[in-house]
Amino acid sequence: MLTSAIKGVFGFAVIVALVAYIARPRFPDSASNHGLKTALGLSMKLTNLISHTGGMMGFSSINITRVLSNTLARSNEPNDKIKIFTTTMDGVEVLVFQPVDKSDTLRPGIVYYHGGGWVLLNPEQYSMYCQEIALQTGSVVVSVDYRMAPEYLYPIPLEDCLTATRYFMNNAEQYGVDKNKIGVKGDSAGGNLAMAVSLKLSKENNIPKLKFMSLDYPALQLFDFHLPCYKSYEDGPGFLTKKIMVRYWLLYAFGDMTYFDTLYNNKHLTKEVLASEHADHVNAKLLPENMQGDVSYRTAYNNDASVPKELYDKITDPLFAPLMASDEDLNLLPKAYVFNVEFDVLRDDGFILVNRMKKLGIDVTHSYMSTEEHGFLNFLAFDKTITEEVGRFAAFHKEAVDGK
Ligand SMILES: *[C@@H]1O[C@H](CO)[C@@H](O)[C@H](O)[C@H]1NC(C)=O
Repeated sequence: MLTSAIKGVFGFAVIVALVAYIARPRFPDSASNHGLKTALGLSMKLTNLISHTGGMMGFSSINITRVLSNTLARSNEPNDKIKIFTTTMDGVEVLVFQPVDKSDTLRPGIVYYHGGGWVLLNPEQYSMYCQEIALQTGSVVVSVDYRMAPEYLYPIPLEDCLTATRYFMNNAEQYGVDKNKIGVKGDSAGGNLAMAVSLKLSKENNIPKLKFMSLDYPALQLFDFHLPCYKSYEDGPGFLTKKIMVRYWLLYAFGDMTYFDTLYNNKHLTKEVLASEHADHVNAKLLPENMQGDVSYRTAYNNDASVPKELYDKITDPLFAPLMASDEDLNLLPKAYVFNVEFDVLRDDGFILVNRMKKLGIDVTHSYMSTEEHGFLNFLAFDKTITEEVGRFAAFHKEAVDGK
């Protein structure tokens, strides 16, 4: 009786191990930390499977994914050097990270926008990362708990970010912060929000100028889903596949998947669209030469139908897809810090932005790790190289805030 139970459990364990072995993400040797990447990849596959199954049973698959990914990315290891508290800024909830050591002068401030495809996660999952940023830069970090899609579509998440940022800049001293030493930072979808906030605020005159914008593997465009990184990493090995990324863009824009096939297959790139000035803002030719691949891939989609207006408006809106900003708009931005990783469908978004800025003579610092995958900044507890990346950001930050 007992032995047959043990046999049963053992048999089950063997099957699970076998399935995990077959389904595991396969990173090349150049990737670091294979153990963590494998565990993360398998957890995300399991999350997607459970959410999908739940969806078929009539539950909300998005809400299931939220619960599971919040658990997966939990990073609440408080640190006695940082005081953490929630408050609201003009009605928007924020999580504040405040260094506790005494400071004779007002501190710098950073407004942080978390990632998660505009759909998932919240400031708590970024607690360790934000504490590390606060510690290494001596800043007060304000992480915005913006409302998310699909319940709240664009522009509501962005508006929440703008509201909290404006409030913080106008009331900085209340938090021991110098209003002239504030910048914005975000990762992934949060990098998109950080750049959109910077573009918007650069044209507002009644608040101080932002000192910098810092974008960690940001999502900046839905104009071209055939860029080299989308081809190389369409199905992984990183957990953020092309399919998931297209879904997130559509959830943020419309809350449904009507245009999935159009975007996934670049069918919106009609002759007319490719002849527009927008086509110059996102182009594989703007990548470093060794990353360009075959740049002749982008020929007009063979149909005479035009792109639906509501889709075209989103694709070309710089506050929705910041790489659509004109050169004039890029010129108004504060000093920039861009961080990219190799195993990432969003890799080229960052490289194209950096190249466009450099060509315009804009002050931009680019940090790139060829060994990492999208999302790894959430795992500070397991990967100390993240501390080093925060160190590179801190060096940039010191210049941006204290420099002339
Ligand atoms: C998730 O759950 C909340 C609370 O029950 C609900 O209001 C919301 O509509 C759900 N979201 C989705 C996408 O189903």
